[in-house]
Amino acid sequence: MSSPVPALADRASACADRLRAADRVLLASHIDADGLTSAAIATSALSRAGIPVETVFKKQLDADEIASIAARDEETVFFTDFGSGQLDVISEHVAAGDFDAVVADHHQPSAPEDCHGDAVVDTDGYADFDYHCNPLLVGINGASELSGAGAAYVLARALEPDGGDNRDLAALAVVGAVGDMQAVGGELMGANSGIVEEGVAAEVLTEGTDLSLYGKQTRPLPKLLEYATEVPIPGISNDQAGATRFLEELGLDLKRQGEWRTWADLSDDERRTVASALVQRAVKRGVPAGKIETLVGTTYTLTAEPTGTELRDASEFSTLLNATARYERADVGLAVCLGDREAPLQQARKLLANHRRNLSQGLDLVKERGISHADHVQYFDAGDAIRETIVGIVAGMALGTAGVDADKPIIAFADADGETKVSARATAPLVGRGVDLSVVMGEAARSVGGDGGGHDIAAGATVPAGKEDAFVAAADDIVADQLG
Ligand code: C5P
Ligand code: C5P
Ligand code: C5P
Ligand code: ZN
Repeated sequence: MSSPVPALADRASACADRLRAADRVLLASHIDADGLTSAAIATSALSRAGIPVETVFKKQLDADEIASIAARDEETVFFTDFGSGQLDVISEHVAAGDFDAVVADHHQPSAPEDCHGDAVVDTDGYADFDYHCNPLLVGINGASELSGAGAAYVLARALEPDGGDNRDLAALAVVGAVGDMQAVGGELMGANSGIVEEGVAAEVLTEGTDLSLYGKQTRPLPKLLEYATEVPIPGISNDQAGATRFLEELGLDLKRQGEWRTWADLSDDERRTVASALVQRAVKRGVPAGKIETLVGTTYTLTAEPTGTELRDASEFSTLLNATARYERADVGLAVCLGDREAPLQQARKLLANHRRNLSQGLDLVKERGISHADHVQYFDAGDAIRETIVGIVAGMALGTAGVDADKPIIAFADADGETKVSARATAPLVGRGVDLSVVMGEAARSVGGDGGGHDIAAGATVPAGKEDAFVAAADDIVADQLG
């Protein structure tokens, strides 16, 4: 059988064999869009293979959470979208016979020297073991080429029963990758493109070039343009009256029964007319050519989903999922992923409205309070004003806005049950110059009695309350070293 990511085929087969040998599996996954889609792919594949599975979601997989899993006396625990970075702790439980582990993840694995138990080996400086499906172990970038859902999908393909076909799950893998911001200019690259190809072949996905604005499926046209702040166009972005006037002056019939239509509802001709008028307006108002180019990009459409719903567009789908899992309603997001489209979808939409409000208020708060600067990093402390589960998204969105230095990693703090959650985000150019936030978060956190990890471009940590300044000082030194 072929694998969508041949370099991971052997690892995926080994994991699949181990799962087939289990009487039942406890699946543990992460509470974001990628973690939810990972879990949906894994549970679907296990069910289709006749293996009973129960799913739990965790905000962060730390020693306490792993201990609580161990206390359940499960024979086989399957970790998706986390686990690699916690192999130091997991390997101790495996060595103690608490459970056997299978991991499909894309985060940076622990250091081999931190791991115990003779099952752990060193693969190019990463902790590794027999049932470990992680792109970083085979030279594939875990931040941009394969997500947790992608790793779970590769495993799902290896788990197919005779005559089975799990390629329909590729659509969810694409939602996970897009949710983890792996698309560059909208387009998925590297190992991700092998998954896209399978989704297209299975007729659950199309890849196209279209307006890159968020909300093509669900936003009425004036809102689509008004909220499109990724490429600010004077007189349209953040300007309700301006956006409406722009559309009215096109001479098209863009309303139906008095209501504005959506982009998804337009004909190809209508789309071309609106898009080219938008580009002309941007040119006339002096928007830089480089920015204008980004108005159009690669988009992924889930063709089995109804037109005009969040589920049809990979980007909107992923935001909908973040709106559930990051608010302790992973059950709602998982139900939507698994095809339950009545009550869960309605509930998810309510959560989405709340999520959007929180993100926008979070960005406002950052603007109001301002950002502090060390030599090589910038930071803000949201206290209890931004939920710790979304402070990373806000930090990432802030890094792209005017008034925030794009040349320094951004670090955000938020209160988390008496401790402090840290989120950090960098840019591709910073990573190109040597910044690795996974290392920064891990080392700086451990230096003040916490722990962390993640990816080079986006990482997080938890530290004791009151250690924020010491953390910034440590992170500043490490970033200085990385920049050489
Ligand atoms: O836990 P996980 O790997 O699923 O989350 C990845 C995080 O990294 C997401 O919050 C995503 O927004 C962030 N990211 C980013 N920029 C990238 C890639 C990922 O901010 N280029
Ligand atoms: O147009 P708008 O800014 O709303 O579109 C971007 C949206 O993407 C954000 O509102 C937010 O809901 C979502 N997002 C996300 N996760 C990220 C970055 C953005 O859910 N890591
Ligand atoms: O929470 P946040 O969105 O900032 O997380 C960014 C990335 O860092 C995610 O991929 C997350 O899984 C990872 N992370 C981690 N260990 C932590 C906190 C976050 O690996 N303690
Ligand atoms: Zn992920």
